[in-house]
Amino acid sequence: MSRGRSTYRCAECGHDHPKWVGRCEGCDAWNTVAEEAAVPSLSTSRRWALGDGSTSVRPTPLGEVAPSRLTRWMTGLPEFDFVMGGGIVPGSLTLLGGEPGIGKSTILLQVLARLEAAGVRTLYASGEESPEQVRLRADRLEETVDPVLVLADTRLEAIISAAAQVEARVLVVDSIQTAFTDALEGAPGSVGQVRESAALLMRFAKASGTAVILVGHVTKGGNIAGPKTMEHIVDTVLYFEGEAVLDFRLLRATKNRFGSVDELGVFSMSQRGLVPVPNPSSIFLGVRGRNAPGTAVTALMEGSRPVLVEIQALASASGFGTPQRVAAGLDPKRLAVLLAILERRGGAEFASKDVFVQVTGGLKLTEPGADLAIAAALLSSLGDTPTPSDAIYLGELSLSGEIRPTTALDRRLAEAGRLGFRRAFGGGATTLTPRDAGVTAGIQHVGLEHVDELAATLAR
Ligand code: TYD
Ligand code: MG
Repeated sequence: MSRGRSTYRCAECGHDHPKWVGRCEGCDAWNTVAEEAAVPSLSTSRRWALGDGSTSVRPTPLGEVAPSRLTRWMTGLPEFDFVMGGGIVPGSLTLLGGEPGIGKSTILLQVLARLEAAGVRTLYASGEESPEQVRLRADRLEETVDPVLVLADTRLEAIISAAAQVEARVLVVDSIQTAFTDALEGAPGSVGQVRESAALLMRFAKASGTAVILVGHVTKGGNIAGPKTMEHIVDTVLYFEGEAVLDFRLLRATKNRFGSVDELGVFSMSQRGLVPVPNPSSIFLGVRGRNAPGTAVTALMEGSRPVLVEIQALASASGFGTPQRVAAGLDPKRLAVLLAILERRGGAEFASKDVFVQVTGGLKLTEPGADLAIAAALLSSLGDTPTPSDAIYLGELSLSGEIRPTTALDRRLAEAGRLGFRRAFGGGATTLTPRDAGVTAGIQHVGLEHVDELAATLAR
């Protein structure tokens, strides 16, 4: 590709600069100027006059477009296929984001090895590690990696021509921060480079039918230039996350043109690579100590799947000054609201207590349906009375202290029943029909209407 002169354009106002500046000369905004590949300038009239076949295109009536059979390549790594929406779609561009060391290279190597075993040609382009280092990691894995082609290069033009030459059906580029295109002068990892690289790979994927998976590092803050600026370009965005100390990893799709989002796949990092965990609830419940005060179980919907988690709360007498409120895995503001509801509507007294709440397994509570379980854990710790070991809590709390039902009640109850729970305390007593309120999957739904009924459920 010939290297044209780059321009430096402001993302806010579109002002062009001859060289990079920190502050846009057009609108005075900071850090909005990024490098862009210069388009060879042709006057508009000349472009229109060209009409030489290469530029003349003909629109097609939708009715004449042959519905393509959406074939997908199954990797045979069930949790990965599930999160992708049922395998890898040919010609798609996927971004796999995650913190360094979380296991992105590992899972993709496993995916490629399994694809090769299924007869799908693959190419792994690593800009971070030499082929020897890739080999070292590969030797630890369960999968047979021998047929996977590797290339240690960071020039996208070289990677793409290699992929075309070996007719790779799936190409992994590890990582977008080290890759660069000749079309721009900026350093690898700069906003302009990352965006142009993603666009180049997108064109390659669409033109060749090769599925491209891009690795992007994100830091804890998630504010590094790479992945965020590419999210709108790619078809699918996967995030790989996990707690550094715990050996399991959560794979989630936050954008998916070919499937649903927010589906969760759980893996555990073993000595032999990542192993899918088909039954995540068993991990998140952990070794649930019987009758431990301050814990309560709830069923979350992670995408279409119910997952049981344990919420742990600790209320202890605070020293001098403002009592502490510490929340891990939930919004501290939501904790403050729940504490206020419990004080004003439930008659509990937290004013002189330090309060700590956490969720097992590094999951994040984002749905309001977990309110009741958080409240139950708080009350349980406050009164040093355990919640019943056979019960889960489901429901959203309103500011007036009323308990509202959760969505997808039947699926949550079914999962809890499967794991041996016998009762579910929750909102919705008035809306449930006798059949719903009866025993679903061996679990009984006990309707509660107001938060002042919550204390009575403890240790029953
Ligand atoms: P890696 O895939 O290199 O992370 P990323 O590409 O996201 O930066 O993962 C590296 C970590 O995984 C490293 O700490 C070692 C660990 N690991 C295992 O525990 N078991 C294994 O079988 C492999 C290959 C890696
Ligand atoms: Mg890596």
